Amino acid sequence: MAKKPNGPRGYPFIGSLPKLASSKRVEWLQSITNTYGDVVEFKLLKKNFYLINHPDLMKDILTRDIDNYTKKTISFKFIKEVLGESTFTAMGDDWRRKRLTVQPSFRNASISNLATIMTDCIEEFLTEWESQCDSGKTVELSAAMMHLTLKVVVKALFSSTLSDTDFKDITKVFKPLLEAVNARISFPVKMLYRLPLNKNKKYQGYIDTLDDIIYRIIADRRVADNKPTDLLQMLIDATDEETGLPLTDIELRNELMTMFIAGHETTANAMSWLWTILSSKSDIRQKIEQEVDEVLGDRVPDASDFANLPYCLKVFKETMRLYPPVPILPRQVERDTTLGNYKIKGGSGVLFSPHLLHRHPDFWDAPEVFDPNRFDKEEERKRHTYAYLPFGGGARVCIGNNFALMEAVFIIAMTTQRFRVNLDSDTSFEPLVGLTTKPKFALHALLQRRRARNT
Ligand code: HEM
Repeated sequence: MAKKPNGPRGYPFIGSLPKLASSKRVEWLQSITNTYGDVVEFKLLKKNFYLINHPDLMKDILTRDIDNYTKKTISFKFIKEVLGESTFTAMGDDWRRKRLTVQPSFRNASISNLATIMTDCIEEFLTEWESQCDSGKTVELSAAMMHLTLKVVVKALFSSTLSDTDFKDITKVFKPLLEAVNARISFPVKMLYRLPLNKNKKYQGYIDTLDDIIYRIIADRRVADNKPTDLLQMLIDATDEETGLPLTDIELRNELMTMFIAGHETTANAMSWLWTILSSKSDIRQKIEQEVDEVLGDRVPDASDFANLPYCLKVFKETMRLYPPVPILPRQVERDTTLGNYKIKGGSGVLFSPHLLHRHPDFWDAPEVFDPNRFDKEEERKRHTYAYLPFGGGARVCIGNNFALMEAVFIIAMTTQRFRVNLDSDTSFEPLVGLTTKPKFALHALLQRRRARNT
């Protein structure tokens, strides 16, 4: 018979809110699953929540009855203010229609068309790093990776139709916009954000700046004679399978804004961890260098090289195991249901954490050890698919996963052709696990030249 999960009592009225709102939230989540098991019940204010930490149960939530585990959560409400209804935020039939329309643009064959855009951006970025390196200055990895991944995603979306001025404007508003969204989700008191405060006006101003650029580019593209092969064009050409209708301007804007936001900070954070880890793991770095030298030598990779750089991919996957860019994911359970042997009450919140699942001792040997060989094909086959969820899973798995993996492998390979990235010995290396897993402190690194590109 289904049983009621156990969990911490929390404080009167507020429940476990201070624990989940604190910067040590992941440590707290880890401690309650250690104490109460893989399904834990707790309260936040008056609302009931469950923490789910078992791959079988994750498979159930993400693949069975997905319409009963919705995105009607506070964090998605705030995200929707910026994104509108898009593949990321929509639910039910509206989401299905959007996903089916947008998905073909992210198939492997379509992503391959974007490889040159990616490598051009990375080349340009590394040329800037070469002059930094020659002047002996350190680089700050988090900001550098954010800049690079934002450039890759906006160029993949708009290719040459994006002017330098537009890119500068996008870069200027992005950081404060993301910070404001994060602040709203961390302190979700809606009323506060409706007040006529300077801060709130600025927030709307950031969204307006991005909207102006996006709508202008869409309008220009609709009448352009030469249509480039970029994501915007793939999305404009995409049609709903049933009705044959294309996306409207508003729908296009929402998808583009989603890809800006979903598609760069995640990859940037994982890349920052990767360089930080490699800095102290010379054996792993050497294996990467060997693979890159053998496969690419000095040449720029093309789409077909992705499959020939398996070690780079394994290192990136292992980095996302220990530092998943999205460490905690929420859902709302609509109706009473059972999950494994447990009774789950409708109207409750559900949390699951890739960070905890990726360290679950029943599914990972020596979980704290960084070992890329866990991602050998044979090892991957043996493992429970839902024990590794950096991109989520099931029908709502990240639509940009192939894009992100190709981008990351190319960044690793092309950077390795030219440099060793050595973290400054004074730099502290500590994760801040909030909505994303980001470095708590600036990550200063010195670039050591391997060789210059001789083109
Ligand atoms: C390392 C990089 C990335 C990570 C770790 C990541 C992670 C995730 C995760 C965990 C989800 C599932 C959210 C949920 O179930 O609530 C998701 C969904 C999504 N991601 Fe990504 N993402 C990455 C890169 C990208 C890129 C590059 C794009 C697009 C350019 C993108 C677009 C999306 C979209 C549209 C969804 C919503 C899919 C749906 O609900 O149908 N992501 N991502």
